[in-house]
Amino acid sequence: MEKSIDQIYQEALKAIETAAGPKDVRSASVRYLGRKGILTQFLRNISSLPVEERPTAGQKGNEIKKKLEKAFNEALVKSEASTKDLEDHIDVSLPGRPVSCGSLHPITQINQEICDIFLNMGFEIAEGPEVELDYYNFEALNFPKNHPARDMQDTFFISDKIVLRTHTSPLQIRTMEKQAPPVRIIMPGKVFRCDSDLTHTPMFHQVEGLLVDENVSFGDLKGTLTAFVHQMFDVQTSLRFRPSFFPFTEPSAEVDILCVICRGKGCRVCSQTGWLEILGSGMVHPALYENVGYDAIRYTGFAFGMGVERIAMLKYGIDDIRKFFENDMRFLSQF
Ligand code: PHE
Repeated sequence: MEKSIDQIYQEALKAIETAAGPKDVRSASVRYLGRKGILTQFLRNISSLPVEERPTAGQKGNEIKKKLEKAFNEALVKSEASTKDLEDHIDVSLPGRPVSCGSLHPITQINQEICDIFLNMGFEIAEGPEVELDYYNFEALNFPKNHPARDMQDTFFISDKIVLRTHTSPLQIRTMEKQAPPVRIIMPGKVFRCDSDLTHTPMFHQVEGLLVDENVSFGDLKGTLTAFVHQMFDVQTSLRFRPSFFPFTEPSAEVDILCVICRGKGCRVCSQTGWLEILGSGMVHPALYENVGYDAIRYTGFAFGMGVERIAMLKYGIDDIRKFFENDMRFLSQF
């Protein structure tokens, strides 16, 4: 049975009453008064009523239509006003939600700083595999098989012939194999050693440097590293070249810088020596040139390798290397 006009009216009023907001009021209004709305349909159907009923039905229908239009309009104004009321009551004095911004890891930052200094001197970047052949990590770098020098680095072995690289020096060989002199490259990367304490982690980062050309001398090595240290720390930071040994350089030197904390007076950080070791270096051993097919008479060169964590620790006065790998935001967000 079709609904009577009174029923429709009552239901529409109910819909207005129960509307939760302006959106509800609008959709109810469409439901009753829209082009296909319930009341609109009703009015359209009047023409199919018996002739004598049409005038009353038409009159009543139009009356109710007007009432509903008014009721919907009023309801809409009211509900819009109350939503606005709510908006007006938002407490703008409340503190905002903090937006925290990410930043580069301190090791990434120092790594980039080191690379930038050498890029500005004309070096280029080279990279290579972290899982490395024994050949590149040791053999071609003039570590003979069973030579005690292999014990200098606590190697993670994957198999007889494959290791996790213990330093970035294998990239010296990989680069020279591919490229004829002159060579001027820096090689940043992760390295691995089975070691863990306050100053050692099983994975850490190194930046290797290699320059090969005609007439390269130890003086060029000193000049390059001095320029580097003065930019990385400051011009007051003097350097000391201390004789050392690496199978792949001859002569070899470890480089110390004047302690950045006590400036040479002696303190806990430098173990009262006044100096801090920052890198290993030397003139490229002629045996490497033979291994890569370079003319060992015509060319000379220097190489160096430094630990990124170590430089970061010295620069920022951090005493425990493990802090870099704990991902504690209270630590990381200071950089
Ligand atoms: N590879 C050496 C190390 O890890 C550092 C080094 C690099 C020394 C290049 C000399 C030349 O200790």
